[in-house]
Order: sequence, then structure tokens, then C-alpha cells
Amino acid sequence: MSSEIDGIDVKKVFAEEKAGWTGYVEWEKYPEKKAIASRILNKTKFTPIPEFQFVPLPDTNPVLIGHRWKEYHEVLGLKGIVDFSWETVQKEKPDLIHLLDFPYNGETRRNQLMEGKITSNKYHFIRNHGGVPDIDEDAFELEIGGLVKPPVKISMKDLKDPTKFPQAEVTVTLQCSGTRRIEQIQQYPGDGDELINAPWGEGAIGTAVYRGVPLKKVLKVACGGVLPECKHLEFIGADTYFKKNNVFNYAVSVPWRKVRLNEEVLLAWEMNGEPLPKIHGYPLRVVVTGYIGARSCKWLYRINALAEPSMGPVQRQEYLYFTPQIGKQNAKYSNGFPIGQMPVSSAIIFPLDKQVIVHDGKITLKGWGYSGGGNWVQRVEVSNDGGSVWYAVDEEDMTEKHYHAWRLWKIDIPTDAEGWLEFCVRTWDSSNNTEPTFVRSAWNWDLHVTSSCHRIKLYSVNRSRPATAKRLKELEEHGEDILNLSHPAEFSLEPLDEYLEEYRKYPREPED
Ligand code: MTE
Repeated sequence: MSSEIDGIDVKKVFAEEKAGWTGYVEWEKYPEKKAIASRILNKTKFTPIPEFQFVPLPDTNPVLIGHRWKEYHEVLGLKGIVDFSWETVQKEKPDLIHLLDFPYNGETRRNQLMEGKITSNKYHFIRNHGGVPDIDEDAFELEIGGLVKPPVKISMKDLKDPTKFPQAEVTVTLQCSGTRRIEQIQQYPGDGDELINAPWGEGAIGTAVYRGVPLKKVLKVACGGVLPECKHLEFIGADTYFKKNNVFNYAVSVPWRKVRLNEEVLLAWEMNGEPLPKIHGYPLRVVVTGYIGARSCKWLYRINALAEPSMGPVQRQEYLYFTPQIGKQNAKYSNGFPIGQMPVSSAIIFPLDKQVIVHDGKITLKGWGYSGGGNWVQRVEVSNDGGSVWYAVDEEDMTEKHYHAWRLWKIDIPTDAEGWLEFCVRTWDSSNNTEPTFVRSAWNWDLHVTSSCHRIKLYSVNRSRPATAKRLKELEEHGEDILNLSHPAEFSLEPLDEYLEEYRKYPREPED
């Protein structure tokens, strides 16, 4: 099949840059190549972005299909990237909830989220903005340039040599700022975005032990440090990204000040004792502790020391936090602030929203609590009355503390009342930060960082109450189940003689 569009042989013009680096096209070094890609994108008609905020989400897995992003790749002759990415999902992440098939966004299921302090590689969530590159570690080299003394190139072999670069291992929770976005959407829909702002639940978060070299050490050993004008470090990933008919490599940045703090920005090649899975950035990724996941650039191949933050669209035009009064009518890139450190947040993972719970005066809840910026989780509190009275989780019912990781928790919360109750959770971190009570207080146009108390409604059936115990027995005798809540009981709720006795004892109408 011809790969010519408008007389341009896309296969040749947008060819892969280097042997052994499949799925990587260099854009940032070649403005003229970017301009040709823009011309083609501007001339092509693409499938509209699906509406999913004002209508129910499809009950399918994958939930949403990224037609448009696939077409962007295809028209530039990069369909191979789309195919390889889905093959990688099948191999490395078969059990996630596939929220968006391409670029792949996969959410961890509840059981897997709560399996322990560490999320296994197979179940850790994935948030991609493009395809998955397939890079041979032996052919790989990391370039460091910009405001450093000499620009350098480092092979993986050298980077992994502990006699050259001192290594570190850090337990880190990565959280996508879209975690729990669905709660914002359900109340007030927001920006749809060209790259679908996925309707994440509570599972766009996971914890792993990463091994690598602190970036501070790499800069010092390999380049003799950065120049005094350097204020930001930009990370470039090998994946291709699109924004408003322009094409880029994924690019983000963090302040030099963050990098200077010894082990807070890591160049990592190992995740939970295994080589980084391809979909998590093999052979090399950045792990920025306590920051929004977006800054932890995967498939890292270039670092630029800069005087200002990256001008790449992911840094400058996305992951912005607006006030609630900013929206389609007035949003600009300069009137939201870029999200860095993550705020304190939490979620109830079990039971599920709208579940019927039969209990003997206590209901067991389980979930996670996390805070960014090096603040550890100090206390988790749960309320069974929508947020007036709070019960603290016992210290022994929480996983170990870490500077940069979540704590999983469990509580048996005393519950006497029956019927629909509203439970919510809030975490307090080591700086005494806690969470806003309602979604409305944290709602923002780009639907990021849903940091308000997570709420669920449970139907409480307290078996320690005699009348309830009696009804449960009746249901059982009739082969019926209280869990099937909205299904009406098929037997009479009260015999006539009992009804009359009650009725006559407490007549319905007053005497006069
Ligand atoms: N790096 C590159 N190169 N491309 C990406 O799409 N996604 C970012 C970040 N790093 C991304 C990336 C976002 S938004 C998040 S939340 C984290 O990767 C997710 O990391 P994970 O997919 O390894 O869980």
C-alpha cells in the first residue's frame, strides 16, 4: 500500500530515528518535520471525540475507544505504534479495567488495589498519552543537555554501574491527577479534552519500589552539576503526542529545587525488583516522588536543564488547576496553575457504593489514604453520618508509613442506625492538611485532583436489632434475600391479627 499523502511519503519522512528504538520518532529536534505533520493533520478529518460526560458510560471493557488518537498515528504512517501498544496491554496488563484503549488508560481493580502495600507490576494502573515505544536497552542512551556544564550521553550499562552512579531504592505511590474524576463528572461535567480526560474511579493510583539513580547524582557525576541559570529540568519521553494538530514528544519538567532534594527525583529502571515493564517506561523512566504522576516521564531519553519550565503542551497547557468559575468561556493556559505536589486524598474501596450491608452493629470499611510532597499519612478518619462524627482508624489497622507512599487502612465502624447511611473518609497528613468535605469545593474545569472526602452510600441492616433479626429469618424461610433490596418481599409483612392488635393499641386518628 502506498504511504504517500499529498505527495509526502510519510513512512520515509516520519521514519523511526534510531536502530533498536521501535516506535520512537524524534520531533523536537526537527521543526520542519513537525510542520509537515501539522499540514497533514490540518487537512485530515478525524472522528469526533466521544461524549461521555452527559451520558452514561458504556458498560464495556474497553470502556472508551480512542478512534481519533489512532487516526492521528495512522495518518502519519505510525499505525505500528497503535498495534504494538495494544499487544503490550494484552501481555503486561490483561486484568486492568481498560478505560481507554488508545492511548492506553488502565485502572486497577478493587481487589488488586487492596492486595497489599505494594501493587504488583501486573496490576499497577497505566496512564499513557501516546503509544508504547519498544526500545532495546543495549541501543539506548540518555542525553543530557541545556544548562549543564558539558552535555553528555550515558548508556544504560554505565547508568546501572554502581561504581559510577550511586543507586537508591524508594517506595513511591504514583497517582494520576485524574483519580476519582468520575465524582466530579457525575456532579458537574467539565472539559472533555482532545485527549480524553478519562473517567477514572479510585484506582488510578499504585505503589511500587523503584530502583535507580537520584537525578541529582546523575547531573553531578556526569555533568559536574548544572549552571547557575538552571531552574528547571525538562524530561522528554520517546512517545509521540498530539495537541491541536501539532505533534510533539512527551515533555514535562520539575523545578531544580525539587531535584536538589537528594532522592526525590529518581531515574529508575527497576520496579518491584523487576526490570521496568515496557508499558511503564522501559528501559528508563523518571519517578518524581510526591508529585502528580504526569511529571514521572516514561521512556525518558533526554533531559534538558532550562531557565524556565518546559513549554511542551503537557507542562504548559494541561494538568492545570482552575478555579470553579473558570471554564470553556474563559479558560486560558495562564489562568490555571500547573499541578505539582499532590494534595492529601483518600478512598473507600470496600464496600461498594449502594451495597446492602447486614451486620451486628459494626461495618467494616477498607481503603487507601495518600498525601504528596513528602507528607506522610498521619491519620485516617471515617464517618457514618456524612461527615459530622468521625472515627479514627487504629494505627495497627494501617500499613506502614512512608514519606512518599500511601497507607492502606481498615476500620470496623460502630453503626447502630439502619437504612441508607452516607459514609465518608478523610485523611490527615503530617502537615495537618485534610480534605474538603464535598466534591463541589474541589471541582475544577479540567476535573483534576478530586481531593474531597470520598463518599459512599450503604444500606445498613443491623442484625443485632430484634425486629431486623426476625425479618431476616422470615426472608430466609421464604427463600428470599435482603441483599436483593429493591425486590419486594413476596410474603405479607404482618399478619392481620398482629396488625389489628397494634392498630387498636395505638389508633391512627386522635379521639377528638
Ligand atoms: N510519560 C510519557 N512519556 N508518556 C506518558 O503518557 N504519562 C504520565 C506519566 N509519564 C506519561 C508519562 C502520567 S499522566 C502518569 S499519571 C504516569 O506516567 C503514570 O505512570 P504509569 O503509567 O507508569 O502508572
